[in-house]
Parts: sequence; structure tokens; C-alpha cells
Amino acid sequence: MAKETDINKVIHQHVEMEQFFTGFTVKSKLKMAEGKHQTNDSSTAEKVKELEKITEEIRQCCQCGLGASRTNAVPGEGSPNARIMFIGEAPGADEDAQGRPFVGRAGQLLDKIIAAMGLARSDVWIGNILKCRPPENRDPRPEEMISCLPFLQRQIEIIKPEIIVALGAHAARMLLNTNKSIGQLRGYFEEYYAGIGSSPIKLLATYHPAYLLRNYSLENRKAVWEDMKKVLAELGLPVP
Ligand code: URA
Repeated sequence: MAKETDINKVIHQHVEMEQFFTGFTVKSKLKMAEGKHQTNDSSTAEKVKELEKITEEIRQCCQCGLGASRTNAVPGEGSPNARIMFIGEAPGADEDAQGRPFVGRAGQLLDKIIAAMGLARSDVWIGNILKCRPPENRDPRPEEMISCLPFLQRQIEIIKPEIIVALGAHAARMLLNTNKSIGQLRGYFEEYYAGIGSSPIKLLATYHPAYLLRNYSLENRKAVWEDMKKVLAELGLPVP
């Protein structure tokens, strides 16, 4: 009985998700205009090389206990010239199995949100604070986040996005070094510094797609969409 209710809930959410976010999808994808940091082929190739080096280090990493329990590390993926980086908390079971970020149910919702923005997954960069799955999807531990964060900081320094979207409380709190709740943090731009001497990057926190799936109210979906409209406006991109 409980299982049936679960399946009904999932189907219902899926239909609603299609209606809410697909309604905004534009027929042809917007060309992701070049950002402030105009790129050329050689600088892109250099970035790809540096990112691959980090990916390799992540795959070898056993600095915390998660290295022993993972199936695959999940370094992150997307455009080396992304103007937006979406950062979640940690890989789940699907991500651990495939070695790719946001490929489970929450990932499908993130894909819809990105499409609703008129963008493709390949336009942006998607990653996590933790590169390995915590067992049973438990919350990341502070020592795990502290040991893993330098990988993300280096990825941010290479990609140099104009905007970071922190998905959920763990990502937002870790990147902004605060204990505030996601309710307090979401909806407005903060400044994030990837390293000493690096320029500030605008960071906007929003609800995690997994939270949206668990709390599938129109109010929450609208809140996320309002946040994404702010991101588009900040980048000078049209709202589909
Ligand atoms: N949740 C996350 O925070 N990250 C993923 O990659 C998948 C689900």
C-alpha cells in the first residue's frame, strides 16, 4: 500500500514537473552568450587540461573514508567556459554508479530547470561539494567537506563562472561559511571567494532539487524559478 502511494506520488510529481518547468522551455536553445571572460580555443584547451588533472586526482583520492566506500568518484562535468556553476551537496546512488553528477531524480529536475532557463546542461557546469557518495546518503560530515572543498575551489578558479548557484543548505553553508538556514540564504546574491586574491563571484543559493521533490508545492517551485530568473537577469540573458 505504502509502495503504491509512493509510486502515485512520483507519477503525480513527474506530471506536475513537466507542466511547471516544461511550460517555460523555449523551442530553440538560446546561445549562451560569452561572458566577461571571452575565451579562445587555446585558453579552453588549457582549462580542459587543468580540469582533467583535477578529475584524475579526485579519482585517486582517498583522503577521507568515503574513498573506500564509493563505486565511482563524481568530479563534476560541463563547459570549461560555463558562466553558471550549479553546486550540490554530494553524489547519491545513481551518481555513484555512473560517476556523473545529478543523474538521478533530483538531476532530472535540475535538467528541467536548466532547460526552463533556455539553456542546455552542456552550457553550464554541474558538481558537488563532496566528490564521493556518503553511505546511505547521510549528510556530509564537516571533516569530509573540509578535505574535499579544495578540489571544488580549484575547479571554480579554472572555470571562473560569473555565477555560482548553490543547491541546498549544505552547499550554500559550506561555500558561504555560515550556519544560516536555506530559508534565510536563498533568493539573493552573496559574494564567494575561491581563494586568496581571487575576485569575488556572485553566489545565489536556492532550494536543492531533492528538497523540491520532497516538498513539491507551487510556492517552492515558484521560489526556485524566481531565483533562476535573477540568475538570467544578472547574466543579461532573456527569461524564456
Ligand atoms: N544530489 C546532489 O547534491 N548531488 C548530486 O550529484 C545528486 C544529488
